[in-house]
Amino acid sequence: MLNADKLEILPKKWYNIIPDLPVPISPPRDGKTDSSAIELLNRIIPKEVLRQEFTSSRFESIPDEVLEQYLQIGRPTPIIRAKNLERHLKFDGRIFFKFEGATATGSHKINTAIPQAFYAANEGIKEITTETGAGQWGTATALAASLNGLRSNVFMVRVSHNQKPLRRTIMNLYGANVFSSPSSKTEYGRQILEKDRNHPGSLGIAISEAVQYALDNDYRYLLGSVMNSVITHQSIIGQETKAQLEDMEIHPDVLIGCVGGGSNFCGFTYPLIGDKSIEMIASAATEVPKFSKGEFRYDNIDTAGILPQLKMLTLGSDYVPEGIYSGGLRYHGVAPSLSLLIKNGRIKTSEVTEDDSREAMRVFSKTQGFIPAPESSHAIATAMEYASNPSNKGKDIVINVSGHGLMDLSIFGDVKA
Ligand SMILES: Cc1ncc(COP(=O)(O)O)c(C=O)c1O
Repeated sequence: MLNADKLEILPKKWYNIIPDLPVPISPPRDGKTDSSAIELLNRIIPKEVLRQEFTSSRFESIPDEVLEQYLQIGRPTPIIRAKNLERHLKFDGRIFFKFEGATATGSHKINTAIPQAFYAANEGIKEITTETGAGQWGTATALAASLNGLRSNVFMVRVSHNQKPLRRTIMNLYGANVFSSPSSKTEYGRQILEKDRNHPGSLGIAISEAVQYALDNDYRYLLGSVMNSVITHQSIIGQETKAQLEDMEIHPDVLIGCVGGGSNFCGFTYPLIGDKSIEMIASAATEVPKFSKGEFRYDNIDTAGILPQLKMLTLGSDYVPEGIYSGGLRYHGVAPSLSLLIKNGRIKTSEVTEDDSREAMRVFSKTQGFIPAPESSHAIATAMEYASNPSNKGKDIVINVSGHGLMDLSIFGDVKA
């Protein structure tokens, strides 16, 4: 039985942008180091997720079981008017924010972890794997696995594993096995440890281990961003936003979100992309300048080149970004559909320094009370800059706050005992 009160508000279908793109996206192709990367997807990705990855149908029905789990983890998330921020900025328009930090795991990542875990369980799989850097994606995967009766294995980059014990505790609480990567669980991890017992790990290594572990044990591997199926699942954010704004009789002038691989931004904006009167601005980190310095070409999804290549804006999969706090924005590429829409000018871009995003995080926390994730604070900084431009007087701004920052407070300095 579904929870009838809130169910009415939830969209029943995900939106897939593929048929509405100005030009078709180029298909994935085999990687540099692996000539059977596409074949590998067939072995590690749940079949239904893979079908959704390559479909050109505009809408995908959301299974009842997934809707029920969306309700469980706090969907629909609220849209809140940021009146105190407006006052602080002396802005005479309105600022609203969609708050994905209100989900059980504290970010939008759970929106795709749930359907991926559900489809894996439906296909008779008992166990899943994934990698995590800072921990948001691993946390979402751990909960989604638990909700769907699966065991989960999260390969967490060793530096984060050591620096973020609370994230580890949350994943353990949800029942996940969390391995510090490089680990002794896979051949690849063992080879690295043999050469350097104290290797700090990297996202590339963690992905390789998660994929290897899935292959060795016939488990399935969950994808956190960049892929089209993930963006389709994230369209729940934009569809809710559209309905909530209509309900409040608000027509937004501009939508602003942050971009790591692109999943929260695309999920937030794509359902409204048909309305040409709405401006859309994607915000990334100056320290990872993929919009201003990225090249549009085929490149590896993962550093190790195990997964297929995608045609996208990229800084190069071997690019080593600065160690900014916004771990989720350190990704080298931009989802292919978003890359196309940036190239053709439909979506504008902005890049924000860590200092400016930290200041935005401080101002937003102080004025609105909700502490945004450092990643989301890039979008907030872009919105603050937009509001300070006199030509944007009187406009209605909507920001996607992709997560809360309660686990990221060391951005303000370590607490001394
Ligand atoms: C809170 C938060 N926002 C944004 C991102 C960026 O990812 P994406 O561009 O896929 O939304 C992440 C990724 O880890 C995140 O944790």
